[in-house]
Amino acid sequence: MDNNIIIKTDSLFKQYGEGETKVMALDNVSLEVGRGEFVAVTGESGSGKTTLLNVIGSLDKPTSGKVFFNGDEITRKSDNELSTYRRRSIGFIFQSYNLIPVLNVEENIVLPLNLDSTEPDMAYLEELLELTGLKSKRRNYPSELSGGQQQRVAFARALIHKPELILADEPTGNLDSKNSREMIEILKSSIKKYAQTLILITHDLSIAAQADRIFRMQDGVLTESEGTLR
Ligand SMILES: Nc1ncnc2c1ncn2[C@@H]1O[C@H](COP(=O)(O)OP(=O)(O)OP(=O)(O)O)[C@@H](O)[C@H]1O
Ligand SMILES: [Mg+2]
Repeated sequence: MDNNIIIKTDSLFKQYGEGETKVMALDNVSLEVGRGEFVAVTGESGSGKTTLLNVIGSLDKPTSGKVFFNGDEITRKSDNELSTYRRRSIGFIFQSYNLIPVLNVEENIVLPLNLDSTEPDMAYLEELLELTGLKSKRRNYPSELSGGQQQRVAFARALIHKPELILADEPTGNLDSKNSREMIEILKSSIKKYAQTLILITHDLSIAAQADRIFRMQDGVLTESEGTLR
């Protein structure tokens, strides 16, 4: 397999329900994403975008088909191996922030490292707090933050372990346009600096236009948009 391919999916199908209620959330999705690429996925609500991201991130299993990460088939790994894959190799950013209410900002950010019994890189923690503008909020709890600030914590948490792959599901959906631009800049500079790969779902075409490639999902079918600017 091509060493420059970090994610490859091979004929992914994901079916929900049976008969009348049957939905093909993924309908024969084959995709290759190169290391260091920024790929945007757009498409109508219910078209299967989140399903695809969750299957790539091993949070969900396809009905059939395979997912490879660095040439290694993850769709045949055990739950234990998968939780290690997620902890070490992936930074997830969800539309809902999923912060832990009883942990303060700093504790939320370093949580993935604690779960992996890894010492946080304190210099990098400081850098992320600076980048996300959260320095003065480091001891605050999520309930004491605005929605935008909570999303910034979620960004920092997704980046703290310098994951090879960042999976972002409408990460700026709840942010105003200024905050949204800032967060996308943080992601773009992170992937450049650490040679990371970014797969980002967005409804915002001005964000999608910044990607190396744009894909469109429609009724579970993924197609690459032509004429993407590079
Ligand atoms: N757990 C589930 N059980 C049944 N159907 C589901 C389940 N999860 C998703 N679906 C269906 O699969 C389809 C794809 O859903 P998905 O969440 O991937 O869409 P999406 O493109 O992310 O939409 P949105 O832009 O609204 O987030 C939808 O028709 C949805 O109703
Ligand atoms: Mg979704």
